[in-house]
Amino acid sequence: MGDPTALVYARLFAEFPETEERFCRDVTGAIRAEMLTMVFDCLMNPAGPYQLHLVRAERVNHDGFGTPNEVFDRFFWIVLDACRELAGADWTPQTEAAWTAQIERVLAASR
Ligand code: HEM
Repeated sequence: MGDPTALVYARLFAEFPETEERFCRDVTGAIRAEMLTMVFDCLMNPAGPYQLHLVRAERVNHDGFGTPNEVFDRFFWIVLDACRELAGADWTPQTEAAWTAQIERVLAASR
């Protein structure tokens, strides 16, 4: 499906416009890339305690700079929505079920 970064952040800024200016430090896009990479890494290694601790730590960090927990958690679903849109007909009910299960697992285990 190619690089989903642009669509993910377009969806984030459409849903939470107030978040866009918080990325002002990110002139090269490196922070946005790191953030999305961490989300994919956590979803692909959901059983790993390292990933779950990272998500927990980032949740606290993000709360500290103005991203409350429910907004933080939404990001995983925004990534899913973007990937579903890009995958088109290749996105099957099994894909949807697998993504949903992984996201729910990561969120529940990292609270
Ligand atoms: C809608 C939810 C989210 C918003 C609005 C948000 C916002 C931000 C912002 C503004 C930065 C840059 C901070 C800076 O200037 O240093 C950032 C960095 C980062 N975010 Fe997020 N974030 C969200 C969700 C997440 C999630 C779900 C993860 C991972 C599970 C994550 C991981 C990171 C990482 C690794 C960085 C870079 C390093 C750091 O500053 O800790 N973010 N995020």
